[in-house]
Amino acid sequence: QLGRFGDEIGLPVYTVGGFVRDLLMGNPNYDIDIVVEKDGLSLADLAARKLNAKLVKYEKFLTASLFCKDGLRIDVATARTEYYEAPTELPQVEVSTIKKDLYRRDFTINAMAIKLNQKDFGLLIDFFGAKKDLDSKLIRCLHTLSFVEDPTRILRAVRFETRFGFKIEQQTARLMLDAVHQGYLEKVSGQRLRQEFEKILEEKSVFEALKRLSDFEVIKHMFPGVFYTSSMEEKLRALFMFLPWAENFFEKLNRFYAVMYVFLEYHSENLLEEIRQRYGLSHCFVSELKVIKKMIVPLSKMISLHMEFSDIYRVTQSFSSEAFCYVASYLDSQAQQYLKEFLEKVKGTRLKVNGGYLVKNFNLKPGRLVGDILEKLYCAKLDGVITDESEEEYAKKL
Ligand code: CTP
Repeated sequence: QLGRFGDEIGLPVYTVGGFVRDLLMGNPNYDIDIVVEKDGLSLADLAARKLNAKLVKYEKFLTASLFCKDGLRIDVATARTEYYEAPTELPQVEVSTIKKDLYRRDFTINAMAIKLNQKDFGLLIDFFGAKKDLDSKLIRCLHTLSFVEDPTRILRAVRFETRFGFKIEQQTARLMLDAVHQGYLEKVSGQRLRQEFEKILEEKSVFEALKRLSDFEVIKHMFPGVFYTSSMEEKLRALFMFLPWAENFFEKLNRFYAVMYVFLEYHSENLLEEIRQRYGLSHCFVSELKVIKKMIVPLSKMISLHMEFSDIYRVTQSFSSEAFCYVASYLDSQAQQYLKEFLEKVKGTRLKVNGGYLVKNFNLKPGRLVGDILEKLYCAKLDGVITDESEEEYAKKL
């Protein structure tokens, strides 16, 4: 349909990028990227009217997004060249041809297009030997300045390589390593690097990817003071074993934070603060890390030895969801199972009485003592010493 809309107003329309790559590989991809030569915004206007879709335009970037009734999202852009006034800065944009539009992209496999106009419908546009690279399973950049202009592509190369089981082509690997050594990662904003890193943490191939990032010295340059050793990998493997359950259990859990606990546990105050600022981590994260790293070994022993829930609760009451993941990174699967049981128990345990009840019925003054009694009651309930029925009786004894 989009091709036909293009015919109506005399504009060449293509689908491009990851969608074409995945189509040729037979992988599902529901992010449709459209490029229109000359004027993408007019096509987006027409398509929005005809498809009755919601339209959001970004005039400055010559792009628009269509949100269709069935939930499909289509991004429409005007074919453009990007030129960089300075490396790593965001590019300037100029209207151009599909060939130049494809040439500004990251890797050959992402630089193909398929024509959608009726006349040439389905025609594969491949100026840079992308199909051949796809068949030979190679990640190859399009020009020698690719990683200098946009160093986040270094992380993208690794992500695609490990996701598809491809290999980064030799010259491309050399250019990546050069850009890392010349300090280009340090010139990109922490926010953009974090975004790319977070995408890697979502990949199935996360461990292969982290290993490759370490080979390319990306970890060292992104997180000074972090050494991707086998013991760190072991902890991360334990952490990722726990994550699927934890993401389902906790209302909020940020993978990046959880991984940062493991990455930064041995960092000095200054280095920690530097990384905190660069990647927009919270002050709470730093203060929690400082406290927990001191108790992580005894705490993980307590859990491995299946100590009473109340003992674990007293230590972990104020832990964030990510801090529990950090604890899990020190545990084998059996101990993780006990931690899960503990967390389930805490979630399902509520006291019938509250502070007001104690004050009123036992003639107590509001304050610390009431808090202490409530905690003792709660702990007794966690350990199964008391039930809903015996709670008030037990409170009297306290
Ligand atoms: N792109 C690029 N350089 C970047 C980011 C993106 O050249 N730093 C281009 C690539 O051509 C890519 C397209 O923009 O195909 C869309 O980017 P994105 O949606 O991030 O990537 P996809 O290839 O669609 O990958 P994914 O499967 O992870 O969504």
